[in-house]
Amino acid sequence: MSIAAISAPRQRQGELGQFLTPVPVAAFMASLFGPLPEVVRLLDAGAGAGALTAAFVSRLCKKKDGVRAVEATLYELDPLIQDALSGTMQDCQRVCAQAGIRFDFAIHPSDFIREMSARLAEGLFSAPPPTFDAAIANPPYRKISMDSPERRHLRCAGVETSNLYTGFIALIRRLLVPGGQLVGITPRSFCNGPYFRNFREDFLRNLEVHRLHVFESREAAFRDDSVLQENIIFHAVSGRKQPREIVISSSSGEKGNMVAEVVIPFSEVVHPLDTEKFIHIPSAPVHAAAKKTMDRLHSSLASLGLSVSTGRVVDFRLKSALRWEPEMGTVPLVYPCHFNGGTVRWPKPEARKPNAILSNDETRPWLVRSGVYLLTKRFTSKEERRRLVACVFDPESVEAEWLGFENHLNYFHANGHGLDRNLAVGLFAFLNSTVVDQYFRRFSGHTQVNATDLRKLAYPDRRTLQAMAAEMKTLDLSQHEIDELVEKCLHARQ
Ligand SMILES: C[S@@+](CC[C@H](N)C(=O)[O-])C[C@H]1O[C@@H](n2cnc3c(N)ncnc32)[C@H](O)[C@@H]1O
Repeated sequence: MSIAAISAPRQRQGELGQFLTPVPVAAFMASLFGPLPEVVRLLDAGAGAGALTAAFVSRLCKKKDGVRAVEATLYELDPLIQDALSGTMQDCQRVCAQAGIRFDFAIHPSDFIREMSARLAEGLFSAPPPTFDAAIANPPYRKISMDSPERRHLRCAGVETSNLYTGFIALIRRLLVPGGQLVGITPRSFCNGPYFRNFREDFLRNLEVHRLHVFESREAAFRDDSVLQENIIFHAVSGRKQPREIVISSSSGEKGNMVAEVVIPFSEVVHPLDTEKFIHIPSAPVHAAAKKTMDRLHSSLASLGLSVSTGRVVDFRLKSALRWEPEMGTVPLVYPCHFNGGTVRWPKPEARKPNAILSNDETRPWLVRSGVYLLTKRFTSKEERRRLVACVFDPESVEAEWLGFENHLNYFHANGHGLDRNLAVGLFAFLNSTVVDQYFRRFSGHTQVNATDLRKLAYPDRRTLQAMAAEMKTLDLSQHEIDELVEKCLHARQ
């Protein structure tokens, strides 16, 4: 079956979140469904040109696993892709007829979020919402602000979420019959971070997750986004009891390239005591090794007497207080662009960011007392080798009474004040090590590092961090040197 790959022009493509699924990926998704009823009511929400339903139909026709009829419901908002979608559905009908399967379809050229939210919200007062045995989805991906129409619609159906894709998945899961199956491909961003906490709760409470698949290579990501997003495919079944074990697989995204598949206890993916419900995906053997190392660490930031916060200076809110160059009455303002290897280089006149902020009654709540701080970037570029990039702020090289840390960085502090220098240097080594980076990649598929992510990590105890600091003769060590000394100190403590 051929699928016309016509999609909306570029700008509209962004608005619609329209990134069509390549055929091999769609075929792989279709292959994940378990046994299906004789008559399958299928939902394809945000159907595009119909690639996912076509893959579902191809699988049924090849597998001949007892399905006699498919009743497909498709939602697609874009008028420019409707012809291609109808064409694909007619193809599906033809292929099914040849295989002795009845195929009926209904294309709704309307807004899935708006329509389904309303039907779910109206409940008793109108026709009940439709129900489905199976859903296959590559939902649109776009942030939705608090006061957007999408957000208002979703709220009526009891869904509070900040992205269109999680809105789609939350609605789809509400439309599944008990035992109904959902195979979806989405960004991996919902697996961690505070913004998706409600979604994770809802997802994990109502869907039994049987399979998670990640793409190893960045090239395989077909969503064009300014923040690197890894995609994830999941197979989940409507129900309230997670399986004891879950299949985790990964591939490069190339046709037929299955790299690895492991079966692990579900409790390793979502820890039963984790109130944040992070979803860990140990797709590569190095991730499993990193977990072993991290599982042996028993200190938390709190037990070390430390906290981590996001830089308080949101520059566009304090515009009038910012200065390109330091002058009387200002204090240093530190952005990630001031990171310079292991230390901070300030001021940086050539930077395209202000170097200073006025220190007065208005700005003081957003400043911190100078001291030794450990800083990490909140966003790394795609080129950076590690997701976690830490550096030490040393008051001896930047003299000031107060400091501004800008919102694109996180800072480790002791109750709002600076850290003991050895502790900061030990944390510097630990957080810049490959083992922490690999552990971090188990639960984070994007380049953003939230303060919550850092708060949730396990840390070496104080003495081990101090031992690491003692080994750090300079902050300018190679990755290999950092890894060696971190490993040596972690092993010495066992
Ligand atoms: C990521 S694309 C995936 C298309 C197709 N399922 C595939 O996998 O190739 C998402 C699709 O959802 C459509 N879409 C966006 N917002 C929608 C909405 N509110 N209701 C229905 N469709 C929508 C877009 O036009 C786009 O075709």
